[in-house]
Amino acid sequence: MKQRVLLASNRGPVSYHFGTDGTLRGQRGGGGLISGVTSGLAGMTAESEVTWVCAPFSDADRAAARRQDGGDTRDVAQPAGLSGPAGVRVRMLDIAPDTFDRAYNNVANSVLWFVHHLLFDTPNQPQFGPEFRRHWQSYQAYNEAFATAMAAEARADEARVPVRALIQDYHLSLAPRLLRDQLGRQQRTTGDLRIAHFSHTPWAPPDYYRMLPEQAGRAVLAGILGADHAGFHAARWADAFLDCCEAILGAQVIRSQARGAAQAGWVLYDGHATEVAVHPLGIDAAALRARAGAGDVRDHITALSQAARGRKLIVRVDRTELSKNIVRGLAAYRELLAAHPEWHGQVVHLAFAYPSRSAVPEYRAYTELVERTARQVAAEFRTPDWEPVLLEVRDDYARSLAACTLADVLLVNPIRDGMNLVAQEGPVLSQDGCALVLSREAGAAATLGPDALLVNPYDVSETAAALHQGLAMPDDERRRRSAALAATAEASPPARWLGDQLAALDR
Ligand code: F6P
Repeated sequence: MKQRVLLASNRGPVSYHFGTDGTLRGQRGGGGLISGVTSGLAGMTAESEVTWVCAPFSDADRAAARRQDGGDTRDVAQPAGLSGPAGVRVRMLDIAPDTFDRAYNNVANSVLWFVHHLLFDTPNQPQFGPEFRRHWQSYQAYNEAFATAMAAEARADEARVPVRALIQDYHLSLAPRLLRDQLGRQQRTTGDLRIAHFSHTPWAPPDYYRMLPEQAGRAVLAGILGADHAGFHAARWADAFLDCCEAILGAQVIRSQARGAAQAGWVLYDGHATEVAVHPLGIDAAALRARAGAGDVRDHITALSQAARGRKLIVRVDRTELSKNIVRGLAAYRELLAAHPEWHGQVVHLAFAYPSRSAVPEYRAYTELVERTARQVAAEFRTPDWEPVLLEVRDDYARSLAACTLADVLLVNPIRDGMNLVAQEGPVLSQDGCALVLSREAGAAATLGPDALLVNPYDVSETAAALHQGLAMPDDERRRRSAALAATAEASPPARWLGDQLAALDR
């Protein structure tokens, strides 16, 4: 008997648009979560029937959701492969635009993301007034919509096959408890349903987390504790979650004594036990290398090599998020050039900063600041035959892979990051070994730290010194470190990340 896996995430593996003939056409969705989960699912559809529940980002998504709900999928074109070998059924929810906007932009991205990444300009922000309370109601309604859809999917199995719900990220922190409650109310035993929640972000320490209005802060924690298993990318985030459960909810926390073990501890709350564990998400190296071998990536490698004209390359690839710390990265590059004139004309900084969450005003302002800072650094140092900074803001995945392949130094300096995939992809793709300058505040620092050049992301001078060290690193040391980084990234492939969570649910 196949088990059923219900995956839930805000962004789904497919998005829709209307074709010129008015039909709905699907295309693959993007983002780190999507590629990691999709790759993790690939090997498990033989023993599981997988349904992926996700939110609508557009009117076309909503139209697809309504047709699906009405059982009419005749002219909903699925992207090739989506219903192919992976065998994943996508269930797009019909959530009203206002509800989605407030839940996603106003609560998830403007409040919860800011809390977990310590991003608030605290003398001025946040201000939790009546408007926040209205936004919070939408966040609740959005989480209810997911829980209701998952409960319906779980109930659909009259044969009572085991159901495993894997709920992703800060958008869906209330959903685990809501799902458990819904099925409990409908008197379906939850014994054959097991729920996991995974946080792809860092988790805030209690003193910062306390900034949330008490009811919301407690609801987020209690919501995740509706799950049987709560996963994090790094032990720091799992420990911070345990700290918040203890300090804010007054829950009973039992910490695992074996440091380095996947299990961080247990939380007993409201008559239910939740296991808290660490599952670092690494790279599907074979798939990544295969993608990097494609013609479009090879063309970009040729073009970038010509643009570099034999100079060393410092590469960064990020979405333009406040947490990615792109402006301090540019300031560090400026300091490198000011302190080490020997690099003038010898190095180019390829900074790929792709658009993200432009509905949030702080993101729009930050994007402008990134562009202004890059222009200033370029204007200060450029010569007639040397362009020191190449900032690219147009998203191009193939070009990003090409840049990682060529990088001498990869700069990954987030203020905080749940994990960070670029830090892992860079060494896997690297042609001749890259030195990794890595923020100690990225979850990936826990695994990659020994072979990276770790920096305090707020310390621009330290980052500049690490860039210099990376550029000057002897070839054999750079290759050795890069190979070790790649091996670490490959050691936790997505299939293992997902499999470990499912195995934990079955224990
Ligand atoms: O990087 C953390 C993360 O939560 C990912 O898990 C997810 O892919 C992304 O952020 C969400 O971004 P977006 O707002 O573009 O969907």
